[in-house]
Amino acid sequence: MANKDKLLQALLNVLSNAARHAARRIVIEAGMVDGRVVIRVLDDGKGFPDALLPHLFHRFVKGKDGENGLGLAISRAIVERCGGLIRADNQASGGAVISLSFPQSAA
Ligand SMILES: Nc1ncnc2c1ncn2[C@@H]1O[C@H](COP(=O)(O)OP(=O)(O)O)[C@@H](O)[C@H]1O
Ligand SMILES: [Mg+2]
Repeated sequence: MANKDKLLQALLNVLSNAARHAARRIVIEAGMVDGRVVIRVLDDGKGFPDALLPHLFHRFVKGKDGENGLGLAISRAIVERCGGLIRADNQASGGAVISLSFPQSAA
């Protein structure tokens, strides 16, 4: 359970990053994992710079090709306010993956 408009904003931030960084493919997955609703956005770009990974969700943190460094900070604030979790990883193949997960119903 989450606020629909807010969740849309959180996803748009993640998707606009994926659209900027993907080589040619973005995959959006949604499903249930261990009783939680999980949405994953994967792309086939170069992935997050390792040095940035621990700081990505802080305001004004951005890479060389970044815009304002606010998108992921806003997404995290929204997701956490909805009772969810957000994390960033690189895939074994190199591209970025952002995972959002939510409890099935509001606490
Ligand atoms: N899909 C992605 N692939 C590689 N790097 C990414 C991706 N999404 C975000 N990043 C990196 O994370 C930084 C922070 O993202 P974000 O908070 O949305 O800020 P912004 O997009 O305004 O730079 C970006 O500047 C970029 O370096
Ligand atoms: Mg962004």
